[in-house]
Amino acid sequence: MNNNLANEIRSKVDIVDVIGERIPLVAKGKNFFGVCPFHDDSNPSMCVSREKQIYTCFSCHATGNVYTFLMNYEHIDFKDALKYLGDKVGVDVGVVNVAKKSSKYDNYYDAYNLSLKYYQNNLNSTLGKNAREYLKTRKIDEKIIKEFEIGLSLDKRDDLTNLLLNKKYDLVSLNRIGLSVDNHDTYINRIMFPLYDASGKVVGFSGRIYDNSSQNKYLNTKETPIFKKGEMLYHYHIAKEYARSEKSIIVMEGFMDVIRASSIGIKNTVALMGTALTKEQIGLIKRLSHNVILCLDGDNPGQHAMLSIGDSLLEQGLDVKAVVLPDPDDPDTYILNNGKERFMGLISSAINFSDFKMEKLKETVDFRSDEEKADYINKVLAETAKLDDPIRREVVLKRLAKEFDIGYNTLEMRINSILSEKPKKNDNITIKKKIVKKDKYRKAYEQIIYFMLNNDWVISQVEKERLIFPTEEMRAICSEINYYYKKYGNINVADFYTYVQDKENVLRLLNDILAGSYSESTTKEELFLYFKVVREYCTKQEIKRLTNVMKKEVDPIEQAKIVEKIRKLRLGDSENG
Ligand code: UTP
Ligand code: MN
Repeated sequence: MNNNLANEIRSKVDIVDVIGERIPLVAKGKNFFGVCPFHDDSNPSMCVSREKQIYTCFSCHATGNVYTFLMNYEHIDFKDALKYLGDKVGVDVGVVNVAKKSSKYDNYYDAYNLSLKYYQNNLNSTLGKNAREYLKTRKIDEKIIKEFEIGLSLDKRDDLTNLLLNKKYDLVSLNRIGLSVDNHDTYINRIMFPLYDASGKVVGFSGRIYDNSSQNKYLNTKETPIFKKGEMLYHYHIAKEYARSEKSIIVMEGFMDVIRASSIGIKNTVALMGTALTKEQIGLIKRLSHNVILCLDGDNPGQHAMLSIGDSLLEQGLDVKAVVLPDPDDPDTYILNNGKERFMGLISSAINFSDFKMEKLKETVDFRSDEEKADYINKVLAETAKLDDPIRREVVLKRLAKEFDIGYNTLEMRINSILSEKPKKNDNITIKKKIVKKDKYRKAYEQIIYFMLNNDWVISQVEKERLIFPTEEMRAICSEINYYYKKYGNINVADFYTYVQDKENVLRLLNDILAGSYSESTTKEELFLYFKVVREYCTKQEIKRLTNVMKKEVDPIEQAKIVEKIRKLRLGDSENG
C-alpha cells in the first residue's frame, strides 16, 4: 500500500470538514463534538480533534482517522476512501496501485461477478427474446437494463453450475453460496436483478418469473456470509450519494419501484424487498438521512406496513413523512400511469407521519358510537403527545376541539397528563460508557504508548531504557511504532492509523488507548515516573514467577538461592529492577 500518498492526501483534508459534512458538529474548546453514528445514541459522545486529525467516541470507543471514518460510515473500502478524498483535493490516485485488501470471501464475490456477466449475456442472446419482450411491456428500456445490470437465467437445469464448475469452483461451494441448489442451478428461467452491498458489490440476485409460471414471483439468494437480506436495502450504494444532496431518503417496497423512480431521476431511494424492517436496516437508513419519506404500495398491506414501519422509524428519532398512493398503485405503476411531474408533486407534498397515522385511525372509527369516538380521541392524543413540537401539538388539539366540539382545555389537560407520564427521551437509548477496570500498571503502560504516539523522543527513550511490555498486543503496537518511526522519521497518530488499518490486534489496542483519557505530552521526569511504575510491575511479576518455581523446587539449596533472588528483587537492586 502506498502510505506516502495516503498521508499526503490526508494532510490536505481536514477531518472536521469531512465528518462535519455528514454529522452536525459543535465546537467546544479546541475539539468538535457530535452524535456518534457508530452506535445508537442521541448524546454528542464523538469527539473530533482538528489538531490530531482523529475522532474518538467515548461511548462505543469507535476511533480512527479520516479514512477509517469514511470506510465505516460509507461502508467503503480503503481504496474507495482514498479515491474519494483524492478527488476532493485534486490528487489522482487512479494510477496508483493500492494493494487490495483480500477478503476471505473474494471467491464469493468472483462467483457472483461471473454469474452477473453470464446472466447479462443470456438476456442479449437469442434465447433472451421472450424476456426482452417482457421487459419491453413493463417499460424497462435498454438504458435501465444496462444501469441495473439486469440479466436472465436460462430454462436449463445446470448451465451456470457447469460454467462455474469449469472455473475453480466445486459443487459444495456453489451450493453454499446459493448459486446452485441440490447441485443444480438455483435460478431457472427468471429475469435476474443483481443485489448489491453497501459498497456496490454484487452479493446476491433476485429472479423474477416472466412467463406466467406458477412459481413464486421473486426468488432471492439465500442467506450467505456476504448476503444478509435483513441487513441490506436495495439501491443503498447509489442512494447514499443522493440522500446527502437531497437531504432525504425515500423508502419503497420493491426494487421495481426504485428502478422506476431512478429512471425519472429520483435516486435517493431504497427498497425494503419485502415489508418487514429490521433494526439493521433502520441503522442504514439513519446513516443516509434523518428525513425519511415512506412511499409504499397503495394497497392495504402497503398502508399497513407504512404504519408499523413509520412507528419504528419514529421511535429512532427520525423525521418521518408519508406518501399515500391510490390503491392499487405502487410507485412503479403510479409513475407509469401519471408521469414524473405528478409523482414529484406527491413526494414534495408528503404529509407528516403522525397526521397520516391519525387519518388511518379515523378510517376505522364508527363516529355514531360515543365510545368509539372517545377511544379515537384518546388515541389521537396519545399520538400527539409523541410530537416534540408544542406548536404542532396545539394545532392538533385545536383541530380536535373544533371537529368534535370538545373544550380545548379538557384536551390540553389530558395531553399534559400523558406528557408527564412520558419517560425522558434519552433514558433508554443512551449506552452507558463502557467502563473497563484497568489497574495502575496497565494504565501506565498505555500512557507510555500514548506518549510514544505523540512525542517522537519518547520512542527512543523507551528503546534506550529497554522497556519490556507485558502483553503480545502492547509489544506489537510498540514494534509497529518503532518501525513506522524509523521509516518515516516522525510519527503522527492520524497517519499511523492508515499504516495499521489491516493489523487487527494493533488496531484494537490503539483504539482502546485513544478512547482512554491519557495525556499527550510529557517531560522526561514524568516519563521516568511511569517507567518506574512499569518496572515495579515487572519486578512483581518476576517475584510471582520465582515464588512458583520455588514451591516446586525440592532441593533446599536451590530453594535458598531462589529466596535470595526474591529478596534482592524486593530490595530493588536486581539488574533488571
Ligand atoms: P411487490 O410484489 O410489491 O413487488 O413486492 P413489485 O416491485 O411490485 O414487483 P413487480 O412490479 O410485480 O415485478 C415487493 C418486494 O417484495 C419482494 C421483492 O423484493 C419485491 O421487490 N418479494 C415479492 C419477494 O421477495 N418475493 C416475492 O415472491 C414477492
Ligand atoms: Mn409492488
